Amino acid sequence: MKQKVIISENLERDLVNAISECEHDRIFILTDETTHEKCMPKMQNFLCLKGAQSIVIRPTDTHKTLDTLAEVWTALSQGGATRHSLMINLGGGMVTDLGGFAASTFKRGIDFINVPTTLLAMVDASVGGKTGINFCGLKNEIGVFSDSRFVIINTSFLDTLDHENICSGYAEMLKHGLISNENHWAELVGFDLDQPNLAQLQRMVAESIKVKELVVEEDPHEHGIRKALNLGHTIGHAFESFAMKHDRAVLHGYAVAYGLVCELYMSACKAGFPTDKMRQTVRFIIDNYGRFPFTCDDYPELLELMRHDKKNTAGTINFTLLGGIGDIRINQTATKEEIEEAMDFLREG
Ligand code: GLY
Repeated sequence: MKQKVIISENLERDLVNAISECEHDRIFILTDETTHEKCMPKMQNFLCLKGAQSIVIRPTDTHKTLDTLAEVWTALSQGGATRHSLMINLGGGMVTDLGGFAASTFKRGIDFINVPTTLLAMVDASVGGKTGINFCGLKNEIGVFSDSRFVIINTSFLDTLDHENICSGYAEMLKHGLISNENHWAELVGFDLDQPNLAQLQRMVAESIKVKELVVEEDPHEHGIRKALNLGHTIGHAFESFAMKHDRAVLHGYAVAYGLVCELYMSACKAGFPTDKMRQTVRFIIDNYGRFPFTCDDYPELLELMRHDKKNTAGTINFTLLGGIGDIRINQTATKEEIEEAMDFLREG
C-alpha cells in the first residue's frame, strides 16, 4: 500500500484523519528524549491521542541499535500491542527509521504513521519506506523496505531546530534540486540560510518531497533510478563514517554537502555538468557548511570506506553523477586518481 504524504497545515486535524484510516485498537507514540521534550508538548492536548501509550528511547544515531529496537518491541509487547495496533513515530530520522523497523517486524507488521520533526527527516528519512538500524558499526545495515501508512509533514516543528540541523536537512533539499529541475535548484542556491524565510522554506520543502516521492514511486527498491538519491552520498558517507571514527562526528547533511562538492566536480570532469552551475552550488555549500577538515594523508582510509559501502558491488565504487541539472547518470565508476582529485578540489578548489 502506497504511503500518503500530507503537507499539513493543521496537525491535529490531519492526525485525526490519518488515525481514522488505520487500524488502531491501541496507539503507541515513539519519541526520543529530545523530541519527547521539544515536540510532544505540541500534541499533548490532542484528543485523538488520549490513552495513547508513550515509548521514549535515547536520542541520536548512536542509539539506533538492536538494544533500542528490543526496548521498543518489549514496550509494545508489555503495553498489550496486537496486530491491530498503531504506532506513531514522532522524531527525526533515527526515530522514523528505528520505529518503522520495529513496527514492520512486530507481529509481522503493524501500521505506523511518521510525523517527522527535523528538516532531514521531512525531506528524506520519513518518506520512501527505508527502515532499519545500525549494526556491527555499519549504518543502516539491518532493515526492510516498509512504507508508513501516512507521513504528516508539519513545518511548525522546524522552530525546535538549531541552525546546524536546518542546514543538515537543507543539503538533501539541494540534492533534490540538482536531480530535478533548474528552477528548483536556482531557488535553493539563492536562499538565505542564515535568515531563512520560513514561508518560502515550507513551500520548498513540499517541492523537495515531491521530487523524492516521484523517484521512489518509479523505483521503490532501488534497482535503478532511486540511485539518483545517492548523489553526494558515496563520498559523503565516507566522510560521515570517517568523522565518527575519529570522534568528531558531523551531521549527516554536512557530510552530504561535502560529498556533493566532490561529486559535482566529478560530474563536471566526467559527465559534462556545466562548470558555472557547479561553481555556484559549491560556493553556496562552502559559504554555509565550510569545508570538511581532512588532509591527503586521510585519502587511503576514505577510499577504503567507499569500497565497503553497501551501494557497491565487487570492489568497484559506484557513483551517481549528473550531466546537467536533472540529467541523472546512475552506475558510474571512477578511478582512485579521479576520486582523489575530487577530494583535492574540496580541500583547495
Ligand atoms: N535516502 C535516500 C533514499 O531514501 O533512497
